[in-house]
Amino acid sequence: MSDQASKTSRTSVRVDIVIDLEPSKLFDLLVEELQTALIRVGIVFEPGANGRIVENKVEVGRVKSWKPGKGFLLDWCQASWQPEEVTEIELRLESVESATRATFEHRGWGGLMSGPEGISGWFAGLVVAPFLRAATPAVLGDWLTDRGARRPSGRQARETYRDPLYHYPNFRVILAELALKPQDYLLEVGCGGGALLKDALQSGCRAAAMDHSPDMVRVAREVNSQAVAQGRLKIFEADAERLPFPDGTFTCAAMTGVLGFLSNPVAVFREIRRVLAPGGRLVVLGSDPELKGTPGAPEPMASRLLFYEDDELGNLAREADFEEVRVVRRDLEPFAREVGIPEEHIPLFAGLGTRFLLARRL
Ligand SMILES: C[S@@+](CC[C@H](N)C(=O)[O-])C[C@H]1O[C@@H](n2cnc3c(N)ncnc32)[C@H](O)[C@@H]1O
Repeated sequence: MSDQASKTSRTSVRVDIVIDLEPSKLFDLLVEELQTALIRVGIVFEPGANGRIVENKVEVGRVKSWKPGKGFLLDWCQASWQPEEVTEIELRLESVESATRATFEHRGWGGLMSGPEGISGWFAGLVVAPFLRAATPAVLGDWLTDRGARRPSGRQARETYRDPLYHYPNFRVILAELALKPQDYLLEVGCGGGALLKDALQSGCRAAAMDHSPDMVRVAREVNSQAVAQGRLKIFEADAERLPFPDGTFTCAAMTGVLGFLSNPVAVFREIRRVLAPGGRLVVLGSDPELKGTPGAPEPMASRLLFYEDDELGNLAREADFEEVRVVRRDLEPFAREVGIPEEHIPLFAGLGTRFLLARRL
């Protein structure tokens, strides 16, 4: 590229947002979220005064200045094939009335572009198009569903699933149906923050659990740290279609709040059956069509969930070769009162009864 082309192409790219949080809290939150988001796309962000950003073992960014609550500055090397091409990326936080403006700015950008046409193409294709896509109904709906329930992540989700009050009525039914004994070895699929496990372990049983959300695995281990330390509980990050356990391991299995999210539920039931020992019992919370669009399954989650009537629910287990398959309905209202759901929300638990699937591997 000629000097002329590289000079005319140099520019800054800036994105900012005002968030209702004080600067020091927003700094910590943005650093945490950025670290998590980058890991998902294979980029490691090591925060702090000596921090750096690494992709495929190549150092892309290095911290030049780190001021918690105020921002940071990175030297940025976007081209491993041209290491002398260094630009600057800055995060700046400024108070705006009672909120904070966070600005990300990439300065000196464009030196590797072939003039205005190249930089326009890069800007439209790699900056603006993903920016617009992030706010389309399809992508935003998926993101909100994942963030809150399908693969929960972030501080709020960690707090919610650590103590999911509104799930306790379901847990009561599941534990009553499982009737755990100290000699049981329980599997929980999609354990979230591990609150059901905590109650289940009081029976004296052993348990193992899995979830595909790293944040949920972390919380579930924290919530059950004693049982994990004692070797009574193991928790894995895994997908429900590939359970990380040998055949015939467990005496019983439970799954709650997960079924509706599964694109291939029969494959998951087959996996559960594989890891159950002969005689092993299964209890699963259904995914009731009546919940669609209610606070139990609001949009945009509702249109991303699969719902099952009684016969459809039973057939999922039969197709996976489970036997003694039954779909039962349980009135959750008394349990909702018992666990302390606020009075104004009790009607959410009243009605025809919630479906539970009971089955056994013979
Ligand atoms: C609504 S939450 C319920 C969590 C917990 N069972 C409870 O009732 O509190 C659904 C959970 O299922 C997990 N999950 C969904 N699909 C999964 C899959 N295919 N494999 C593993 N975990 C999955 C999510 O990460 C999330 O933790």
